Amino acid sequence: MFALTFKYKVSQVEEILRRFLPSDVTQQRVIAEAMEYALMGGGKRLRPIFMAEVYELFGGTQEDEIQPFMAAIEMIHSYSLVHDDLPAMDNDDYRRGRETTHKVYGEAMGILAGDALLNYAFETACKAFETTQDPAKVGRAVRTLAEGAGLYGMLGGQVVDVAMEGKPLTEKQIDFIYRLKTGALIETAMKVGAILAGASDEQVETIGRIAMDIGMAFQIRDDVLDVEGDTEKIGKPVGSDEKNGKCTYVTLFGLEEAKKKVEEYSDRALLAFTILEEDTGRNEFLEELIVALIARER
Ligand code: FPP
Ligand code: MG
Repeated sequence: MFALTFKYKVSQVEEILRRFLPSDVTQQRVIAEAMEYALMGGGKRLRPIFMAEVYELFGGTQEDEIQPFMAAIEMIHSYSLVHDDLPAMDNDDYRRGRETTHKVYGEAMGILAGDALLNYAFETACKAFETTQDPAKVGRAVRTLAEGAGLYGMLGGQVVDVAMEGKPLTEKQIDFIYRLKTGALIETAMKVGAILAGASDEQVETIGRIAMDIGMAFQIRDDVLDVEGDTEKIGKPVGSDEKNGKCTYVTLFGLEEAKKKVEEYSDRALLAFTILEEDTGRNEFLEELIVALIARER
């Protein structure tokens, strides 16, 4: 997946993440290690990449403004995976081809590492206040980040996901869960990029809608991969949804229909994106990325 340019961008993001990791820890060192283990253990780094590309698309140029937010969104994503893997949630031992954080550091430290990443994400994002010419804009971006992660965003979706485990879902319920637990953070990533670059309110809304379609396609592809993916490529065992008695797009609509939905959401996102590009100019990398997600294998 994502030939050529993508690989290069992942390493760039990882350099940024490393720079923002906490360094002056003393007796709480173990949690800094667990945070690093969780954050630096691979992953596609999609959310910061989306954020940076959208920032560029709308003409953003200040690295010290966007980079704290790129690190922050990946910290939030990373915390969510650490907690999602805990015994009380999905109880998974492997992610990205390695043992999960609580497997390595114990359950209590796993919980605390997630908490630490979430808090530190906001400490990190707030670093943008130190250099910006426009604190109001940075404030709006911090607020968007908080909303996307919280009760009305990712966490809200996870709550319904957990509450409904083992129960059949209607299409309306599953869409609510997917839009929030997966769509919201991708939406936030792209909106923050647009806000920091000074896009208009209308453009921020448009990029948010595109991101939500990408998020839906992304999560439904996740369901497909859980059924017909390759354990080696995904880095965790397939069939975990079935193991956990989860109702997914595949259980609701079948494999072929689920794949069709992925394409529909991606096509809609791409169409809206190309219309937006009439104002902003093209970003072929983002176009290719949206298309590549349809067939992603990890
Ligand atoms: C994989 O992302 C993750 C998802 C598809 C999102 C699933 C949502 C949750 C686990 C929500 C959890 C929320 C809480 C509050 C615990 P990815 O394929 O980008 O992963 P990667 O970084 O490994 O590439
Ligand atoms: Mg889960």
